[in-house]
Formats: sequence, C-alpha cells, structure tokens
Amino acid sequence: MAETLFWTPLLVVLLAGLGDTEAQQTTLHPLVGRVFVHTLDHETFLSLPEHVAVPPAVHITYHAHLQGHPDLPRWLRYTQRSPHHPGFLYGSATPEDRGLQVIEVTAYNRDSFDTTRQRLVLEIGDPEGPLLPYQAEFLVRSHDAEEVLPSTPASRFLSALGGLWEPGELQLLNVTSALDRGGRVPLPIEGRKEGVYIKVGSASPFSTCLKMVASPDSHARCAQGQPPLLSCYDTLAPHFRVDWCNVTLAEERPGYLRHPDGPPLHHPREHRGAAADGGQPRGAPATLHPAHVQCAHR
Ligand SMILES: *[C@@H]1O[C@H](CO)[C@@H](O)[C@H](O)[C@H]1NC(C)=O
Ligand SMILES: *[C@@H]1O[C@H](CO)[C@@H](O)[C@H](O)[C@H]1NC(C)=O
Repeated sequence: MAETLFWTPLLVVLLAGLGDTEAQQTTLHPLVGRVFVHTLDHETFLSLPEHVAVPPAVHITYHAHLQGHPDLPRWLRYTQRSPHHPGFLYGSATPEDRGLQVIEVTAYNRDSFDTTRQRLVLEIGDPEGPLLPYQAEFLVRSHDAEEVLPSTPASRFLSALGGLWEPGELQLLNVTSALDRGGRVPLPIEGRKEGVYIKVGSASPFSTCLKMVASPDSHARCAQGQPPLLSCYDTLAPHFRVDWCNVTLAEERPGYLRHPDGPPLHHPREHRGAAADGGQPRGAPATLHPAHVQCAHR
C-alpha cells in the first residue's frame, strides 16, 4: 500500500477509527406498530476525536442483517441515498416481532476499504399510552423516504397535518418508499421525487375534511381525472405535496383493542371512515352527510 505514505494525519485517524475492532453494541427500543428509524451516521462508525468533523469526502456504505440470517427481519428496511449520506434502518414492527432482535451492521469505508461493525440490540415492545385506532396513509409526492425519516421533517409533517385532523396527538406509524409499492424511479432530469407513503395514527377521530377526501365519491372523481373533494385548506402545501387522490383511512378496532379506563373509542355519532382496501367498512356505511360537502379543491 504505497499510497499510505501520502495520507494526511487526519486520514490516519479515520483509518484507526474504522479498524476492525470489537463490534460496538447499542440497545434500541422499537415499538410495535410505530415507525422506528435508526440513522447510521458516518460519525458513529469513524469514531473521530470530539473536535474533528467528518470530512465531506468520506464515502461509507452499510450492510445490515439479522444476526444468524443473511437478511433483515421482514419489518425492517435499509436505505441510503449515496455513500456521502447517512444510512437508515426503518420500519414498523408487528406483534410477532416482540422481543429481542439483534441486527449486525457493517460499515465499509469506500476510500480506505476498511470495515467496522456495530451490533444493534432491538428490544421490541408494546407502545404505552392511548390506542391509535384512527389511521390514515398519505402519499407524499414531493419527498423521498430518506427525506422524511429524520425527525425534523417527520415532526414537521405531523404538525402540518394537525390542521386536518380533530385535535389530538398524531403519531407516525409507518413510512414506505413509493418504490416499494410499485412506483417508478423518476428520471433525474425531471427533478421529481420517488414519493413516500406516510401512515399516521391518532386517538382522535378523523376530521370531516379527511373523511371526505377519502370517500368513495372523492375516489370516483379522481378516477375520472377530476380534482378530489378536499373540503378544507391544505395545511401541508406547499412544503409537502400530498396526493389527495391517494389517501386511505382505516379504523383499527378489533375486540381486544379496548382501553380499560379510557373514553369510548368511538363516538356514536361519528361516521366511520372508508376502509383501507376501498371495500365496505364494518358497520355503518362510509357515506358522508350532505352538509359536510362544502366544495371541491382545485
Ligand atoms: C409498513 O409498511 C410496509 C410496506 O408498505 C408493510 O409491508 C408493513 O406491513 C407495514 N407495517 C405496519 C405495521 O403497518
Ligand atoms: C394510490 O393508492 C393505491 C392504493 O390505495 C395504489 O394501489 C396506487 O398505486 C396509488 N397510486 C399511485 C399513483 O401511487
């Protein structure tokens, strides 16, 4: 390795940091049915001294798998925009995933060919707090998955969405790249994004506005190329461009989902949202009261 002679002291520090030493171990606590995001930061894998910033030219890629298996568990996905960008492990654990899962991450320094390993111990448990039976999924066309995984844009999305929901805490349940749902990679020249589906849940009911935009009437208009029925001001625009023809609402209410001393989950006068699969929802039909129909969004 004759090039070694030309490396700057900083790169020697980087190399030492990326040495294949004993794997670091971190314990994390994903919750069943809530989005989990773990950022694979270059800093973590370079173990730089405190005052040294990560040089912008560092190229690192990652490989992650479930211990003893070649792949990640079904619920967990990995993505990285480029070797300059951080990697992300993300997904939403299911009840079957409860318990311990160990993820082994290997970081490859594309410049030095060094590798470093990290072990992520995932203690997957049930979330606390109220149940979130009112769930909605939005297709955000203005963003790629990697752009909404960091906590700042994610909470920005939730607070913007607050304007379209009955007051109450909203939580992120799932994030899926549109590419994982059959979307196509846009040509770079178009400057367009792949799009991302964001699933949100709340203990408080959907607003009339949300119920209307996800109603069969609105979907029928969309199918004919007409604008959807959006009866309220789009509080997500212009920052998040939501496809209002692609909103799905679901109410999770299996028998065991009853909070012992909470308020009743369902107000008797509430209409039920359209079922997520577009089929007939259980119980009352998902029709809208005519008084709710205010205007079509253009
Ligand atoms: C999260 O989204 C992925 C991809 O669409 C899906 O396969 C998975 O079932 C979802 N998980 C939950 C808990 O909704
Ligand atoms: C809109 O959502 C449906 C599922 O409700 C999906 O099958 C379809 O591909 C989505 N359309 C686009 C353009 O992404």
